Amino acid sequence: MNFDVRDENLAKEGRKKIEWAGNDMPVLAKIKSDFAGSRPLKGAVVGACLHVTSETANLMIALKEGGAQVGLCASNPLSTQDDVAASLVKDFDIPVFAIKGEDNKTYYSHINSVLDMRPHVSMDDGADLISTVHSTRRELIENVLGGTEETTTGVIRLKSMEKKGVLRYPIIAVNEAKTKHFFDNRYGTGQSTIDGILRSTNMLIAGKKFVVVGYGWCGKGVAMRARGMGANVIVLEVDPFRAIEAKMDGFEVMNAKQAARAGDIFLSVTGNINVIGESILSSCRDNTVVANSGHFDAEIDLKYLKKNSTKVIKVRPFLEQYIMKDGRRINVLAEGRLVNLGAAEGHPASVMDMSFANQALSVQHIYENSGSLEKKVYAVPEHIDKKIAVLKLESMGIKIDRLTVQQKKYLSSWELGT
Ligand SMILES: NC(=O)c1ccc[n+]([C@@H]2O[C@H](COP(=O)([O-])OP(=O)(O)OC[C@H]3O[C@@H](n4cnc5c(N)ncnc54)[C@H](O)[C@@H]3O)[C@@H](O)[C@H]2O)c1
Repeated sequence: MNFDVRDENLAKEGRKKIEWAGNDMPVLAKIKSDFAGSRPLKGAVVGACLHVTSETANLMIALKEGGAQVGLCASNPLSTQDDVAASLVKDFDIPVFAIKGEDNKTYYSHINSVLDMRPHVSMDDGADLISTVHSTRRELIENVLGGTEETTTGVIRLKSMEKKGVLRYPIIAVNEAKTKHFFDNRYGTGQSTIDGILRSTNMLIAGKKFVVVGYGWCGKGVAMRARGMGANVIVLEVDPFRAIEAKMDGFEVMNAKQAARAGDIFLSVTGNINVIGESILSSCRDNTVVANSGHFDAEIDLKYLKKNSTKVIKVRPFLEQYIMKDGRRINVLAEGRLVNLGAAEGHPASVMDMSFANQALSVQHIYENSGSLEKKVYAVPEHIDKKIAVLKLESMGIKIDRLTVQQKKYLSSWELGT
């Protein structure tokens, strides 16, 4: 078996982490046990490019139980948990190609190693695997039945491919499931982003001016949790509806120029480029902290920082201090890569439970229905999304009411008024 991990001897620690995460993933565990009975993925090769974490390990194990042959590489050079990667290789015979801190060349050579397995289903978080298939590995396209995409930025890239007519196989946009973005993006990113900032800075959040750039699903979560830690939260938005929403949720809303002089910590989570750019970096206060939780390391203008600084000091793990030409210190966390996965461990298992239940059932859907799917980006089928919500509630011991026949009729009629 081919693989490339940092050190196989880390497997023992990795296995404990995988089992610990698995304790909090009851929906995925249920799917795994169903898979073990019916083996719906028998014969399928699944090539996955995801953050190599203990939660992802549980997904890989579930797919294998379903009969699939799986291969895994990282969807970000900094998010790999080396001990988890080692355990997947040593304890579960799953080929992994991922090393935390790998350079760009190794990152893409690892993607190519997974593609060498000739996957029938591609699984992405950010669309780097599928874009490699569509650019340098086009000979593989005819072998692929379909793919899944985990995150907002990946879905945007794939919809752009669909619109330009270059998408060569069907995709299920896992991010669009309610059981994904309502919870993973909001509560997962909310908590783990604060975790990453704390681990890399050990700063007190209480009393700080905490600027959240982007008030989407993730931004709402970060703003909510930063306020919970006692910060005064400022929101920057370009969407007027979301700006009003942030204001009515009780946050200060302003533009970048105004926020530049006010903020202590800036956190971007937009999926857009240079949102912490010159307008903030040229006038922010001395010792400002800047971090990103959006998918790519494009959100902080690192080129501007490099050009306008005299040196960079590595102060702590995952904290680099740029000494600007005017003497100000600007502290960049996790090299501008997503701070929750670079400096912490990513989302807690309990939310990844639903995200990865969507992944597992979407792979099954593609494998069983590939003949009827077109070269489009599809939402997760409604029945899958709902099944996951019901299973999650059950696992939490929560019972909810059902609509009565009378209520159903009322909700679908127009005749009854005042
Ligand atoms: N860190 C993680 O673990 C994690 C988890 C899920 C998603 N993501 C990523 O986070 C990013 C955001 O995802 P989302 O689901 O919240 O997306 P979203 O579309 O719900 O929200 C993004 C928001 O950013 C705003 N925005 C865009 N450009 C802006 C600018 N220049 N200034 C201010 N605001 C701007 C948009 O108007 C929008 O409201 C994506 O890159 C996504 O892939 C990261």
